[in-house]
Amino acid sequence: MNLKGRDFISLMDFSTQELSYLLDLASEIKAKTKSGVLEPVLKDKNLVLIFSKPSLRTRVSFETGMRQLGGNSLTLKQDEINLGVRETIADTARVLSRYADCVMIRTFAHSDVEEFAKYASVPTINGLTDDSHPCQIMADLLTIKEHFKKLKGLKLVYSGDGNNVANSLLVGCALMGLDVTIACPKGYEPMEKYVEFAKNAALKTGSKVSIEYDSKKAVEGANIIYTDVWASMGQESEASMRKEIFKSYQVNDELCSCASDDVIVLHCLPAHREEEITHSVLEKNAEVIFEQAENRMHAQKAIMAAIV
Ligand code: CP
Ligand code: NVA
Repeated sequence: MNLKGRDFISLMDFSTQELSYLLDLASEIKAKTKSGVLEPVLKDKNLVLIFSKPSLRTRVSFETGMRQLGGNSLTLKQDEINLGVRETIADTARVLSRYADCVMIRTFAHSDVEEFAKYASVPTINGLTDDSHPCQIMADLLTIKEHFKKLKGLKLVYSGDGNNVANSLLVGCALMGLDVTIACPKGYEPMEKYVEFAKNAALKTGSKVSIEYDSKKAVEGANIIYTDVWASMGQESEASMRKEIFKSYQVNDELCSCASDDVIVLHCLPAHREEEITHSVLEKNAEVIFEQAENRMHAQKAIMAAIV
């Protein structure tokens, strides 16, 4: 499988076979990292990270991961670079392509990452946009695969806001053959283009994709319950209104008791305890949730090793 030079902007750009390859590579890289035999396959390569929004996991996992692969990283925050304001995105892309071997961007408009990739001559990675968070979903799939020793045939239910994480989860799960349901209030569904893509992908992988408005009904038979914040970065002013709208979608002990006996709960983090997830549920699933956070690093090492 040769993915050299490819961008990693949307899971919709990848086939089931390609995602499967990246997940296997992530497992191999994780095992090698743990046993201290990881080869420095990106020796002296430079990764530039651009952040127009805050981050803990994405920044540290990319920087650490690149170093573990033998390369270097440099982080630029919004106040330093002012993406798309100080100069055009096209010019920024052409300049950074002269210094870097790969650029990761976390920003608001998804089209800004696409615009950057159009002009960059090095691979561009989406580190979260308002529309999607593909690197997160690679870590999630890796975590699920490690826990259940398979992906196909499992049922994942996301309860909460049909946001960037939900959009990417739909696509990733459908491509990998998991049944996926988004349980959300009316008006907060995932974006239509992701739902449509996932439904088409599911026809080929034999999985099911659905949107539900009743979270208790949705989680029946779920092996994985997933949630994320109710107000994403950039939606802070809507936070108190959203607390009311989403309260029946909280992942709590009662909701978990409606799922399969083997259910695990995942959260991309940061978590707002007693909002989208209770303290009790988060702590009962802490082992797997923090493994999920660690897996960001291994999944992204696989992505970088494959495309750079
Ligand atoms: N899950 C995730 O992307 O975390 P950060 O926002 O801290 O990077
Ligand atoms: N939906 C969240 C994800 C954070 C990792 C946000 O965009 O803020």
